[in-house]
Amino acid sequence: MEGLRRLEYRGYDSAGVAVVTADGISMAKKSGKLANLIAELAANPLPASMTGIGHTRWATHGGPTDKNAHPHVVDDGKLAVIHNGIIENYAPLKADLLKQGYTFVSETDTEVAAVLLGDIYRSLTEVEGAAGSEGTGALLTEAMQLAAQRLEGAFTLLATHAGQPGIVVAARRNSPLVVGLGDGENFLGSDVSGFIDYTRRAVELGQDQVVTISANSVEITDFYGAPAQGKEYLVDWDAAAAEKGGYPSFMEKEINDQPEAVAQTLLGRSDIDGKLILDELRIDAEVLKTINKIIVLACGTSAYAGQVAKYAIEHWCRIPTEVELSHEFRYRDPIVDEKTLIVSISQSGETMDTLMAVRYAKEQGAKTVSICNTNGSTIPRESDAVLYTHAGPEIAVASTKAFLAQITAAYLLGLYLAQLRGNLFQGQIKDILADLAKVPAKIAKVLDNAEQIKELATSMADTRTVLFLGRHVGYPVAMEGALKLKELAYIHAEGFAAGELKHGPIALIEEGQPVIVVVPSPRGRDSLHSKVVSNIQEVRARGAKTIVIAEEGDESVREHAEHVFYIPETTPLLAPLLTTVPLQIFALALATAKGYDVDQPRNLAKSVTVE
Ligand code: F6R
Repeated sequence: MEGLRRLEYRGYDSAGVAVVTADGISMAKKSGKLANLIAELAANPLPASMTGIGHTRWATHGGPTDKNAHPHVVDDGKLAVIHNGIIENYAPLKADLLKQGYTFVSETDTEVAAVLLGDIYRSLTEVEGAAGSEGTGALLTEAMQLAAQRLEGAFTLLATHAGQPGIVVAARRNSPLVVGLGDGENFLGSDVSGFIDYTRRAVELGQDQVVTISANSVEITDFYGAPAQGKEYLVDWDAAAAEKGGYPSFMEKEINDQPEAVAQTLLGRSDIDGKLILDELRIDAEVLKTINKIIVLACGTSAYAGQVAKYAIEHWCRIPTEVELSHEFRYRDPIVDEKTLIVSISQSGETMDTLMAVRYAKEQGAKTVSICNTNGSTIPRESDAVLYTHAGPEIAVASTKAFLAQITAAYLLGLYLAQLRGNLFQGQIKDILADLAKVPAKIAKVLDNAEQIKELATSMADTRTVLFLGRHVGYPVAMEGALKLKELAYIHAEGFAAGELKHGPIALIEEGQPVIVVVPSPRGRDSLHSKVVSNIQEVRARGAKTIVIAEEGDESVREHAEHVFYIPETTPLLAPLLTTVPLQIFALALATAKGYDVDQPRNLAKSVTVE
């Protein structure tokens, strides 16, 4: 239950467990959050057992009902199966199995895989006699290998069979799975948080592998039974890091973790002379010098981090930089070659859309760098190089600290390229790094002043729509602010480039419409400040209620705004690391005022491992 609780952020449409006992499989499953399953088990406990599987679901095929919940038990109550991902050829497989006389009780693709596995297991038993052996060679292992060969799409499948108590067998393709190595006990999890209470020793599984665990053994093969190896590593955080630490929600904790997240991401990546040392970036310097285009691939919040980074990378490195949603990139015949550097950004490192886009780019000969927050996850593993964001585990479904850490890491990458290619003087890089080093303390200052924005948000709980405006790096920040509000408070929100408003969206403005504006610093030669102030006036003249995020000391915005929130001074390119924070707090407080679960917003899941 503890493991499922830690993994619940990945999906919370239903939860279930199955344990193996002398009499067969005992199972409990319930639609809705894990709490429903816990209540069910309190009322009707399962028998004691040493082997079991559990699952929390994010619905793909079939609604979030008890019947569609996992595990799916087949083979006369002897085989239990759970599954993440999508089995793309489930329809023809199901048609085949129906012809053979099998029946189905759910609408899921998972049950098809379970029935197929049961069918293969049964025919192996007929050929090889009664099963009983453990480890590789176990019939369940062989059945899983054969089943996996027939499945298409993305899957992590776990199975346990009453005929082979003491083992759990799993197969993975395009979907995450890690092994936890305990002492006299072993674990499987979609990520390490599932077993972090018990062990920090983990083994990454490769693509298309089957693993069989018992209390004392871990045996890995490919889908054809050939022995294979996983890579062992030590998780660099512990169970305490995955707790709320006294905050009412993970999201609030993670917003407050942000000074640390940025500081940790900067740590140890430059020397005293301001020279960047990115040891992990194992792509030949000569190759990086020949890069003539960068494409950033990401989704959601991570894509907004990429959009912020584009401004900095182009400014510092003079390399044309595109930012593209991973799921759009792959299907538009993009122009990619050996001189393209692909920078993927993913908190989880498992987002299927991004993984597929990276694979596609690699096939075209591009070099790939992953900016990622999850050690050992698939995208960094499949990339040529990785730059980890050291934000610590992000549990709340809506991303916050990962976003700031991603911008920080992407900036380090940009500065590194500029250093390598001689676009900036070492002194300039040193100055930017010094400014970056001051950011954590400035974020802490924004957090200290959170009360004012919380009060405003709480007073706006009945708001039906909010617009966000920004220019330059403030534009992706505006979009991120809108996304946070949509996903947490279920309020319609849009982020616009402030200059675009007059080309259409200004028609949306009516009396009392809240508009949140990210205002750039008034300092500096090329400041866009006055342009944004004009945009504020334009919406205000049409009745908008303006809420402004501006730099400390910028008194000129006061007369144009109902509310002003000040952030500490910084350079224009670093401002997103500060201006985002009040927008996160705004969404958190408004959703809280509406009584919503900010850690697990409806319909969402943290790791989107389906396309
Ligand atoms: C929004 C959010 C999502 C993710 C997106 C990509 O708060 O969390 O938009 O940013 O699903 O996820 P990763 O970064 O794991 O690839």
